[in-house]
Amino acid sequence: MCGATFSPLQFSHAGLSGARRKGEESHNQGEESHNQRERPHNANTKLGSLVEPESNSLVEPESKGGQFVSQKWRAGMRLTVNGEARDLNIDPNMPLLWALRDVLGLTGTKYGCGMAQCGACTVHVDGQAMFSCITPVSAVADARITTIEGLEGRVAKTVQDAWARLDVPQCGYCQSGQVMAAVALLTRTKAPSDADINAAMNGNLCRCATYQRIRAGVLDAAKML
Ligand code: FES
Ligand code: FES
Repeated sequence: MCGATFSPLQFSHAGLSGARRKGEESHNQGEESHNQRERPHNANTKLGSLVEPESNSLVEPESKGGQFVSQKWRAGMRLTVNGEARDLNIDPNMPLLWALRDVLGLTGTKYGCGMAQCGACTVHVDGQAMFSCITPVSAVADARITTIEGLEGRVAKTVQDAWARLDVPQCGYCQSGQVMAAVALLTRTKAPSDADINAAMNGNLCRCATYQRIRAGVLDAAKML
């Protein structure tokens, strides 16, 4: 089993939860810093040429008021999301999470903290779990992005079945991020150790403290693979 210490943030999340399932113990998912989650590489990707905002062949952000949708700095960007190429007219610095939720309407990926502290926004970028809230779209222009809506394949189905079988979610808010992290882990490591689970899942917090069931879900899925 993993250590029973709390990180300050997890402790505060667990302490604030008013709806924790009876008998559930919150615990830290690991000793290692969640900052080990892959960070976006620097944006050396091709952005395409800057285009005037009146170009209307591209998907426009719905919100006009945010700093990330300034008229001045929009660019024609192509993102490959869930196997589909999507042409967007957005600021290259826009966080991927914004593009997914506000521009493409893929709201299964959640906003929690916006600063790489909770894991609610976890998506796959070329198969690796990544925080979309701190990933500028320019960094993933040449990558395959997968959200919870596009998750498919044997590992994904096995994890989702295990989650349902063990009734893992409570409020559910964190769970798309948890599932994305678990699928990334089990795709690269079929029989994860406790340390593997700690390292892979440590960046995903759960305010309802479903950590024991998350761990059980990962182990249950691993047995089925
Ligand atoms: S919203 Fe991205 S880590 Fe919290
Ligand atoms: S935050 Fe409620 S299930 Fe994780």
